[in-house]
Order: sequence, then structure tokens, then C-alpha cells
Amino acid sequence: MRDQAEKLREIARGFQHPAKGQIFKRQPAETETQARVITVTSGKGGVGKTNLTVNLALALANLGQRVLVIDADLGLANVEFLLEATPSYNLMDLLEDNCRLSDVVMDGPRGIKFISGGSGLYQLANLGDGQVHKLLSQVVQLDKWADIILIDTGAGLHRNVLNFVVAADEVIIITTPEPTAIADAYAMIKVYASHHGRAPLRLVVNRVLAQDEGQAVVDKLGKVALRFLDVGVASLGFIYEDPNVLRAVKKQVPVVIAHPDTVFSRCVDHIAQRLLYSKEVNAPVGIKGFFGRFLDMLR
Ligand SMILES: Nc1ncnc2c1ncn2[C@@H]1O[C@H](COP(=O)(O)OP(=O)(O)OP(=O)(O)O)[C@@H](O)[C@H]1O
Ligand SMILES: [Mg+2]
Repeated sequence: MRDQAEKLREIARGFQHPAKGQIFKRQPAETETQARVITVTSGKGGVGKTNLTVNLALALANLGQRVLVIDADLGLANVEFLLEATPSYNLMDLLEDNCRLSDVVMDGPRGIKFISGGSGLYQLANLGDGQVHKLLSQVVQLDKWADIILIDTGAGLHRNVLNFVVAADEVIIITTPEPTAIADAYAMIKVYASHHGRAPLRLVVNRVLAQDEGQAVVDKLGKVALRFLDVGVASLGFIYEDPNVLRAVKKQVPVVIAHPDTVFSRCVDHIAQRLLYSKEVNAPVGIKGFFGRFLDMLR
């Protein structure tokens, strides 16, 4: 029987035995790359995080990316609502041995996958080494499958949200042009800086009525973040106010599927392209690296 240390060494090498009933059918690429882990967050609630996450995932899938969405909003099951799916299991079940990883991962449209974090993500602080090992050995499979992992967080500055932001390879901060949302986005950037976050921060201004309005927000936030916090914030793009968002939410169909030609969808397509083809990406650490950082912050 192999000992614990040997198993850990295998995980560290990214080695994985083929599991029975494995859902990740794709074989590891010949040149193995880590998934980019991108956290989507905001200071103020209700500014469009979940809609951006789900629709961006679908737009990226259209560009040939394998995308996994993790719903890390403990309070509200946002992602599953937009995808009209009810996962039977979440990460907590995985930790408690009630199921396998393949039971936790759900299939969405266009081949995207998603995981409901449930309370599991917040129980990680209480895990013993054996459970940590078990979790990591399972999530390694996700690294091999996904090109991009998008994490939808709750709003606000509490520790739970912040850990996802600081542990990510990249961070998307979303705000609207409302002064309160901008102030809260600034507060988020400030807390991020105080925790020595180093991932590139990129801003999406949602619900703009005109391009000038979005640009003004980017200029203002960018300037104060640089001057007072010494943090660079790049623009990832604007999304126009669009009545089709509410229509799609009511139908529980993602906007880019229900209304592919509407302004919201075109803006999100643009953002997906920027995300994919922009050069400012650090070498990603993947989901295993992400959980490593995440656990470091908890302990
Ligand atoms: N571009 C847009 N145009 C019009 N309405 C929008 C737009 N973006 C978001 N909305 C509206 O805002 C609502 C909230 O969006 P969403 O649930 O994505 O926000 P959130 O930041 O995830 O909220 P929470 O903080 O509660 O998780 C949507 O249901 C929709 O009605
Ligand atoms: Mg949400």
C-alpha cells in the first residue's frame, strides 16, 4: 500500500490515476498548462457579477476554451439559478465523502461545467491534512480539464470573499457607474492591496449608458488606485445597460444564449476576447495552486 507521502508527491507532480467513471474525458494536453483561475468580484452587491461570470464563461467557450465556473457565493445560489440547474452535490459533500468529484461537477450549455461551492469552500479552514490531501487530489482533475476557471464570489469586503480574490491568478472587479458602487470598488481594491494581492486587477464597468460614462469610471478609479494605493487597474471593457438582461434572468437562460445579438452579449464577447488575447497574464498556478494559496491564507 502506498503511503500518504507518496500520494502527495504524485499530486505535486500532477500525476493522476484514471478514475472509474471519470467525467473529464479529454486526455491531458501534450504540453500541460495550468488553468487560469479568474475571480470575479465587486465591492457593492447586485452590480452584475453572476451575469458576467456565466455569460463570459459561455463567450469563452465559443472561443474554444474549456471553462469551469465555481459558484463561491455562499448566501445565494446565483450561478445555478441563471443556468436553471440544481446540483445535487456541492464541495461540502465532496469533503464529507458523500460523493465523487464527477457528482459535484455539472454540465452547462456549450460544454461549460460548473460547481456549486456550498458551505464546503468555507469549511476548508477546518480541514485536517488528510482531508486537504483528498481535496487536492480530486481538484487536480479540474486543472487537467479546464483552460479557464471563473469564480463568482459574493459582494463585499469580508474575509471569505477576499480569500478568493487574493488566491486567484487574475481578478475582475465589476462596478456600475453609480458613485456608491465606485466607492465600494475602491474599498475592495484597497483591502486587496493591504493583503498584498499581486494578481492583475481588471475593471469591468457594467450598465453604462454611453462609452464616455464607462471611460470616466475607469479613469477615476484607475487614477485614485494608482495614486493612493499604488495599484494599477486596467480596463477590461464596458457593458451597456440592456433590458434583455432582466428578460433573460427571468427566463433563467443566460443572455448570450437567449439574446446573442443584443448589446450585452456583444460587450461580453469583447471582454472574452480581451481576456483571451491580452498579454498581461501572469503564469497561472491552476486550481491546485489556487487552493494551495487559499489554504495558506486560512491557516
Ligand atoms: N448590463 C445590464 N443591463 C441591465 N440590467 C443588468 C445588467 N447587468 C445586470 N443587470 C441587472 O442586475 C441584476 C443583478 O445582476 P447579478 O445577479 O449578475 O449581480 P451580482 O453582482 O451577481 O449580485 P449579488 O451581489 O447579489 O451576487 C440582474 O438580475 C439584472 O436585472
Ligand atoms: Mg451574484
